Amino acid sequence: MNAVKACIFDLDGVIVDTAKYHFIAWKQLADELGFSFTERHNELLKGVSRMRSLDILLEIGKIEKSEAEKQVLAAQKNERYVVFISRMTPDEILPGVRQFLEGLKEKGIKIVLGSASKNAPMILEQIALAPLFDAVVDGNQVTRAKPDPEVFLKGAEKVKANPSECIVFEDAMAGIEAAKAGGMRCVGIGDAEILGKADLVIPGFMDFTVEKLFAHFC
Ligand code: BG6
Ligand code: MG
Repeated sequence: MNAVKACIFDLDGVIVDTAKYHFIAWKQLADELGFSFTERHNELLKGVSRMRSLDILLEIGKIEKSEAEKQVLAAQKNERYVVFISRMTPDEILPGVRQFLEGLKEKGIKIVLGSASKNAPMILEQIALAPLFDAVVDGNQVTRAKPDPEVFLKGAEKVKANPSECIVFEDAMAGIEAAKAGGMRCVGIGDAEILGKADLVIPGFMDFTVEKLFAHFC
């Protein structure tokens, strides 16, 4: 098996639970447009880019908008979302994540962020995890959304790792497909029934250690 040189982390749903904030902001937009948007609908937006999320939301409401109107709506939604994330603190880091990242650091493994979110740098600053990351690739730096592997391949390149030396941590199917398409191994965070395509699925980082990672992948 290949050595592990870098671990690439998705942000939303892996390091922090921001889906609840995305949900409130999208729901407010749907309310204003006059249709209901549920938590079940919100599941469809996980791992999906901002503009694609808006398209899905408008499909749910059976509403058509011009490109210019969509830009305005997406900006409105983002303004509301940013209010929530600007209040985030390190307390919102999901259980076990910091310890796991510190364990990787001790072993000299590169830590990379590979997120579809354009707000990723702001969130990393808010939760004070930015110093632990050797490289960050976010939604501002990619042209093709997951399941395209661009975000992860760029991350690997930034730390000079081959894809076969990288392990991706993802909570969304699109992200797992992106890791696989990029020739990387992948740990799914969440439900094994949904994330079955990952090489390993864990419910979260609580009780997950670098030793357990190595036992599985090395
Ligand atoms: C992903 C989230 O990480 O980022 C999606 O899972 C979100 O739900 C996407 O739509 C884009 O986020 P942002 O912050 O650029 O609007
Ligand atoms: Mg995610």
